[in-house]
Amino acid sequence: MKSISSLKNIKGKTVLLRSSLNVPIKDGMVLDDFRLRKASKTIKFLISRGARVIIIAHIGRKGTETLAPVAHHLKKDFLGLRFIDSFDDLSKTDSQLVLYENLRRDPREVENNDTFARKLAGLADIFVQDAFSVCHREHTSIVGIPKFLPSYSGLLLDEEIENLTFARIPEHPALFALGGAKFATKEKLIDEFLQKYDRLLLGGALANDFFLASGFEIGESLISDKIPSKSLTANKKILLPSSVIVTQNSKVLRKKPGNVKEKETIVDAIFSDAFLKSMREFKTITWNGPFGVYELGFKEGTEKFAKQLSELKNTKTIIGGGDTIAAIHKLNLENEFSFLSTGGGAMLEFLLKGTLPGIEALG
Ligand code: ADP
Ligand code: 3PG
Ligand code: MG
Repeated sequence: MKSISSLKNIKGKTVLLRSSLNVPIKDGMVLDDFRLRKASKTIKFLISRGARVIIIAHIGRKGTETLAPVAHHLKKDFLGLRFIDSFDDLSKTDSQLVLYENLRRDPREVENNDTFARKLAGLADIFVQDAFSVCHREHTSIVGIPKFLPSYSGLLLDEEIENLTFARIPEHPALFALGGAKFATKEKLIDEFLQKYDRLLLGGALANDFFLASGFEIGESLISDKIPSKSLTANKKILLPSSVIVTQNSKVLRKKPGNVKEKETIVDAIFSDAFLKSMREFKTITWNGPFGVYELGFKEGTEKFAKQLSELKNTKTIIGGGDTIAAIHKLNLENEFSFLSTGGGAMLEFLLKGTLPGIEALG
């Protein structure tokens, strides 16, 4: 894989740039521009080197959403940006900087279709892949286009690979913290990171699966459709929360995990102050997934952990996941960590495999 930063002369060349601009939108406004700010670096780099840039990206999953609010937001930084919604207009324009409408409006984007890939490739001299958060998808703009154009990684993709590669070979002692839901989808990563890291912290709904497997009552709490094995639950490297917040109708209570009752639901997971204080011993801490139902206000576990993490100045702190980063933003802690990944599923898959289809496609 070659990086665009290694290419000497791109003056006058047309670059097809795949960016990740999939941000939350409400009432036509961008709610969180983290990914846009991260994507800007490569756009600025290409323009400053005299290239003409055609940005392609997706938003949402229905195939009907529009990137218009994103274009509007990007214009604050890129005054001359033109937003184009028809392929005909796109192929005719000679504007310096263009954003093309949501690629997923064409069903062939998610079908990894060579005809569509060739059509997009025909617009440019060079392809730059910068959409790390989508690199786990075998879509046309991820694995198709590089077959038809000289292809390079963008600056954000380079930064993601560098930091997440470090997370796969951490400096020890190293702590891996995993929250969120869906144990079944994270089981392999847990197995793998038990080898790579010294301690594994499990919070969120993931902890419920481990409480259940250890024979605790978990009431009506969310669990995965797979239960952790005996050898996994017995692993001494795994640390579970010391207390949980449960709800029952309108009651909200704090409990020891072993004391949850049948009709209760675990909504937050909190680690002991003693453990939180001891985190300064770690040289590397990698974290994905909130520890509670953060979006409904059950945020104590996530908040305490994030705040403690933000105070560690001698620890490399690597954090990712859509919900996790949203939680970090709400706490105004964005600049307090070594690295924030723009990936959710892509981050987890990269941590597990050390590569992604979109990276492999760049050769
Ligand atoms: P990320 O987006 O950061 O990768 P995930 O999508 O894996 O994280 O998980 C986030 C989701 O996990 C949130 O919607 C949150 O409400 C949910 N969650 C966390 N803890 C619990 C819990 N105890 N019970 C139910 N859902 C939970
Ligand atoms: C993301 O938001 O994680 C990426 O943009 C991928 O989007 P997708 O999960 O809809 O493929
Ligand atoms: Mg999520």
